[in-house]
Amino acid sequence: MLQLENVSLHYGAFRALHGVSLHADEGELVVLLGANGAGKSSIFLTASGLLKPSGGRIRLRGKDMTSAKPARWVQQGLVLCPEGRKLFPGMSVLKNLMLGAYVHRRDRKGNAKLLEEVFDLFPILREKKDQAAGSLSGGQQQMVAIGRALMGRPQALLLDEPSLGLAPLVVKQVLEVIQRINRAGTTVLLAEQNAYAALQIAHRAYVLEGGRIVMEGRREELLGHDAIRRAYIGA
Ligand SMILES: Nc1ncnc2c1ncn2[C@@H]1O[C@H](COP(=O)(O)OP(=O)(O)OP(=O)(O)O)[C@@H](O)[C@H]1O
Ligand SMILES: [Mg+2]
Repeated sequence: MLQLENVSLHYGAFRALHGVSLHADEGELVVLLGANGAGKSSIFLTASGLLKPSGGRIRLRGKDMTSAKPARWVQQGLVLCPEGRKLFPGMSVLKNLMLGAYVHRRDRKGNAKLLEEVFDLFPILREKKDQAAGSLSGGQQQMVAIGRALMGRPQALLLDEPSLGLAPLVVKQVLEVIQRINRAGTTVLLAEQNAYAALQIAHRAYVLEGGRIVMEGRREELLGHDAIRRAYIGA
């Protein structure tokens, strides 16, 4: 579904990604682990077309997307839910959600149906749909961010630290929703600081260090090695 081949990224003279290769196959839930500054967000921004790599290729369903414009990526079914939510705080919850549907704006019927599905997934958002997004709690704002991404009709959904700053119980709920979205057929690439909790719902994971992939494996492999668990997962 999504494939990064030997991707490098520079911010000016600083090289943030050093030849990263990774893939998420159709229907997979893949977790990206790594400390602060490891390059997780850099991968997400590059893998969604918002930053152009200085080397390497990105493919979506086999198609080379490396030089395609960001809107084209959404049309092709790849949607990013960025770190830090990036909502419009003064706009209503409903308007924030509908922004996610922008590239599908002509299909009003389809959007209305999808909106109902998002409200079924996050019932609290139905109650608060006319309130300013900035007035919601952190967890509720995260639901808006995920809901907005879903309105973009992703076949592949990139979630950059969706549980950042949330209470443990809310983290669990957010991860459960992500698992449900994945089980409904959406391919998911997820960055998480809560490595152990994220691995519980993952099929596979990559560990990133200093802009390089230093480890990859299936959930059972990573959880099954004591040394790996201690070094990278902290549980
Ligand atoms: N716009 C930028 N300009 C210059 N350097 C940047 C920029 N964005 C990120 N970096 C650098 O690139 C490296 C990777 O950053 P990135 O945001 O991808 O890490 P991350 O794994 O997402 O970290 P976190 O867990 O804190 O979100 C860091 O050293 C960071 O300082
Ligand atoms: Mg980040």
